[in-house]
Amino acid sequence: MMENERMKTTHFDRDFPVNNKVITRELLEKEYPGYLRHVKNAFEAGQIHIFRWWNEITASEKKNLLDQVSTIDFGLIKKVFNDAVLKPARTSRDNLTPPPIITFPKKDAEKEMAHKAKLAGEISLQKGEIAILTVAGGDGTRLGINGPKGTFLITPITRKSIFQLHAEKIVAAQKRYNTRIPWYIMTSKSNDSATQNFFKMHNFFGLNSHQVCFFTQDMVPVVDLQGNVMMDSKSNIIMSPNGHGGALVALKEKNVLNDMKRRGIKNIFYHQVDNILVKIADPVFIGHHMRDSSEVSLKIVKKCDPEEKVGIVVYIDGNLHMIEYSELSRKDMYEKNENGTLKYHAGNIAVHMINIDFLEKVYQSGESLPYHAAIKKVPYLDDDGNVIDPKQNNAIKFESFIFDILKYVKKSVIMEVLREDEFSPIKNMEGENSPETSRQDMVNQFGRWLRNIGVSIPVDARGNVIGLIEISPCFAMDEEELKNKVDKQLQFNGKLLL
Ligand code: UD1
Repeated sequence: MMENERMKTTHFDRDFPVNNKVITRELLEKEYPGYLRHVKNAFEAGQIHIFRWWNEITASEKKNLLDQVSTIDFGLIKKVFNDAVLKPARTSRDNLTPPPIITFPKKDAEKEMAHKAKLAGEISLQKGEIAILTVAGGDGTRLGINGPKGTFLITPITRKSIFQLHAEKIVAAQKRYNTRIPWYIMTSKSNDSATQNFFKMHNFFGLNSHQVCFFTQDMVPVVDLQGNVMMDSKSNIIMSPNGHGGALVALKEKNVLNDMKRRGIKNIFYHQVDNILVKIADPVFIGHHMRDSSEVSLKIVKKCDPEEKVGIVVYIDGNLHMIEYSELSRKDMYEKNENGTLKYHAGNIAVHMINIDFLEKVYQSGESLPYHAAIKKVPYLDDDGNVIDPKQNNAIKFESFIFDILKYVKKSVIMEVLREDEFSPIKNMEGENSPETSRQDMVNQFGRWLRNIGVSIPVDARGNVIGLIEISPCFAMDEEELKNKVDKQLQFNGKLLL
């Protein structure tokens, strides 16, 4: 990548020369007190071009720009850009090993162990020690919808939103365990008010408004391929959410951890908003996590093909790590065992249990999670002030990943689950991992439950249910509950809503 003139550090002097004009230090101090230090940071990091329209913008636009500038750590941006550029391409490593995994229970002894874990998990739920954390701060650019991903209407018949589906799972779990389960939702500045309004509009989907808490993660600037901070108007820097790793700082600094402690929470059930099959507050998972005094636990599925876009859970030099799909070398991706199965098959479904004392400890250590760079296509304002919709990738977004806390973990549990039961994320508008595949996965799951009970459900050659089925979590959370509520003489006529 070529070094750009603007990235050269310029020494801060008395005034700021911008486009042959000057923003005087005195004027800045007089009219916008308190911002000088931040402008100086931008200047010294070679990002002074963000002020190139200073003399054209209004006073309130100036204030908006300065407010943005005051939230940005320009030195850090410069460092993470340089790190990203200098980082070698995905290289294979010889220090990887597959981690130990609690496999999906098949033998009696394994089923017995799962049963015991379930009892332990249920007790913790009854005691009110578990909170749900949903990360929903992403931009959802691949899905390309207007508004937060969680507001997307998804269920096969009644078209409930993703948020409603998650909410009803919490309502059902509260009823089953006679408990209260607080729900924390991480949003970002760009979707927070839309998310909160959606919940208000729908009366919190039957939950008490005091148990649903929203908090926002921070934003970081988007840079071009030379490291220059980008703008989408003459007074606005393009910012994007700082990745779900931003939860670590946000949970602490937005007082969420303290709120959890006040409510007696010990462990967090963490999941991503986009997985519509997530088994919220799964007692088996909670139980395994607690019985092993695990700091962070992970659910995994077997990868369905080497190039599936899921992170993989591995040991690197004997320590637990997640390698994101975009950072895995092709050699490691395709590496096989002697029996022909994938060597690194533990696919991350981003469902975790996290101990809150452990989170507090990591935060207090002062260590920060590293930023990863993602190259994207982002519309921007060019030097002449024209809006450009690029045809090719032109920008770098920086994100930290929550699973980078694994490097601090000493005790963990990795539990395998079945994809068809627990993992169907919505990432794209069409094709794989789209609303269409997720709806089908939901219908197929309900179809399996009914078939196992003895109800006849037709499927096509690919095993997909022919027809539509929707079962509200409030009617039955799982097959076991359904068994007690549905007559096996039930006749399926192509559409069933329970
Ligand atoms: C993610 C995981 C991947 C996993 C896959 C499973 C990352 C980096 N990778 O991939 O290992 O196998 O899901 O589906 O997460 N989010 C925020 N704030 C942000 C960015 C994202 O809250 O700043 C949330 C999103 O709202 C979403 C989730 O994180 O719920 C995942 O983000 P996404 O970018 O879709 O990750 P994937 O690339 O799909």
